Amino acid sequence: MKKTVETFAKAKLSGEKLTMLTAYDYSTAKLIDAAGIDAILVGDSLGNVMLGYEDTLSVTVEDMIHHGAAVARGAKEALVVVDMPFMSYQTSVYDAVVNAGRLMKEGRAQAVKLEGGVEMADRIKAITDCGIPVMAHIGLTPQSINAFGGFKVQGKSEAQAKKFMEDAMAVQEAGAFAVTFECVPAKLADLATKKLAIPTIGIGAGAGCDGQVLVYADACGMFSDFTPKFVKRFGEAGAVITEAVKGYISEVKAGTYPQEQHTYKIDDEVIEKLY
Ligand code: KIV
Repeated sequence: MKKTVETFAKAKLSGEKLTMLTAYDYSTAKLIDAAGIDAILVGDSLGNVMLGYEDTLSVTVEDMIHHGAAVARGAKEALVVVDMPFMSYQTSVYDAVVNAGRLMKEGRAQAVKLEGGVEMADRIKAITDCGIPVMAHIGLTPQSINAFGGFKVQGKSEAQAKKFMEDAMAVQEAGAFAVTFECVPAKLADLATKKLAIPTIGIGAGAGCDGQVLVYADACGMFSDFTPKFVKRFGEAGAVITEAVKGYISEVKAGTYPQEQHTYKIDDEVIEKLY
């Protein structure tokens, strides 16, 4: 059965943990969906993972539509959440609504995610008022990397922790159906999770959150440019792919692939006429 924002609301009430991984293409979405994940995030981390940028800032609405639609075709059951990229909503409430609409109409998103708390509450409200569910994202928000001065844990000082709690309350008040907490101390995320009525999805925010999200390439051992402390590799798919490619290379070089069962037949008479 297709998971929806209702699935998220029910999980918050029942205490069942929510699971989310990123995906950026049809085939990977199919694999992740078949494993029984609750939600797939078409994260703007596609900038790093798929496009090789050093941050997420160059990702465009067109990129997100292209990859979102591919994932949506592969995700039969998981809720598909598509990230709003940098400068697609910060500029104005109008831009936020138009671009969220494009991600839903053209990118087939079931929900969008955007970064920011108190400052983005008017965007969250305007988008949800149009019937587009919004997942908020607070704590370390990678689109503000230049303002933060790097990838740093957020919410450690009293002032930062207070701001984090205000942001959490503001996005709930604005109508977000869930909120991602990135790179904040576990005790802070735990307290906010207890205070909020909407589910919290942690990444580097400890086990007290209502659910967890990871970049699939990190979780599956396929990306090693940068490995944050919170990442656990649940498999070594990267090594499996490299081994498979080595096998392919050595069989092609040795002439042992392709074999007869990999080829198509033609009647000898047809061939003879060509001599
Ligand atoms: O883009 C992304 O992958 C994300 C996760 C880190 C939550 O926003």
